Amino acid sequence: MRKKIPFAGPSITQKEIDYVIDGVKNGFYETFNMHVEKLETEISDYCGTEYAIATHTCTLAMHLACLCLDLKEDDEVICTDFSWVATAYAISYTGATPILVDIDPDTWCIDPKKIKSAITNKTKAIMLVHSFGVPAKMDEIMAIAKEYNLKVIEDAAPSLGAEFNGKKVGSFGDFGCFSFHGAKIAVTGEGGMLLTNNKKLYEKARLFVAMGRTDRKAVFWSDSIGYQYTMGNLTAALALAQVQRIEELVSMKRSIFDRYEKNLSGIEGIKMIKEKENTRANYCYPSLLLQPSIKTNRDDILKHFKENNIHARPGFPRMSEFPSLKKTYENPVAEMAEKRGISLPSAANITNNDIDFVCERLIYMIKN
Ligand SMILES: Cc1ncc(COP(=O)(O)O)c(C=O)c1O
Repeated sequence: MRKKIPFAGPSITQKEIDYVIDGVKNGFYETFNMHVEKLETEISDYCGTEYAIATHTCTLAMHLACLCLDLKEDDEVICTDFSWVATAYAISYTGATPILVDIDPDTWCIDPKKIKSAITNKTKAIMLVHSFGVPAKMDEIMAIAKEYNLKVIEDAAPSLGAEFNGKKVGSFGDFGCFSFHGAKIAVTGEGGMLLTNNKKLYEKARLFVAMGRTDRKAVFWSDSIGYQYTMGNLTAALALAQVQRIEELVSMKRSIFDRYEKNLSGIEGIKMIKEKENTRANYCYPSLLLQPSIKTNRDDILKHFKENNIHARPGFPRMSEFPSLKKTYENPVAEMAEKRGISLPSAANITNNDIDFVCERLIYMIKN
């Protein structure tokens, strides 16, 4: 069989190895947190926020964000229907209800028009996703939030390095959240990050993230219920090296996307999911939509890919169809992405030949 073309996978250099070894050798005792502190400083500098807190996963960062905004039962949070379920469940953990609305057909991010029509007197916040590294329409979303006095959480899990009007995603809302999960652009296996510009919210999150510990009356004293959500130093050592290389990683992903786009540009019925003007996608997962003119079944294409050892992904199933979540709206654009969307392989070890082969197999399936 032809060699595997994995869906995702990291770029690991000597820098990552050196940092982890440094963590193993030196990251204990009084320096037990040295890489965590450096990581938090460097990622907030990079993204242009005042504060950052490293967490064990992005899901936990999003849960912290929801806790800090005091979300609770009877509150509603307007959220995209098209995401990994962590986005909605982070809201559900607090007892609040995610209201799942449709996406914009060009970016697969939440459609601001759908946010507006879903607002009720119970709405407290908007939880948007910068889907697959393509920025959401932050100007429109922030204007709606301002008009209706809503909080904003950016789920930027795969989108480190993406920009909207020259500003990094994750720095617009009350909170921004990133993931370092193994399939993301910057990778540690499991890992997350919470960003904010708000000192009060930061201090609240700091208490929550480490069991409410204050040491106020004694060592190990805790004043309020908290969670053990912090990132370990060894994970942070790896994350630090990846964050210091993020511009290189973004360039790599953008070149992969460019080659896919060039190869597929003349093929009728293929719509690439692309950045809008004045934005920069990191193209963590280069994705496309098969337009209705294409009669080949999407799942047959994925099956053919698998037979050729190409690992691609279907679009996310709509979360509103899950028995654990509530369906409020029909979301036809998300349904289309679910049924006719494909995310193409873009691991760091992919070669131009691999990309050309994926495109050749895709075109073959479409034309036969
Ligand atoms: C859009 C989105 N949000 C949240 C997450 C959760 O990230 P983590 O696995 O770090 O909790 C993911 C991970 O796949 C994701 O894709």
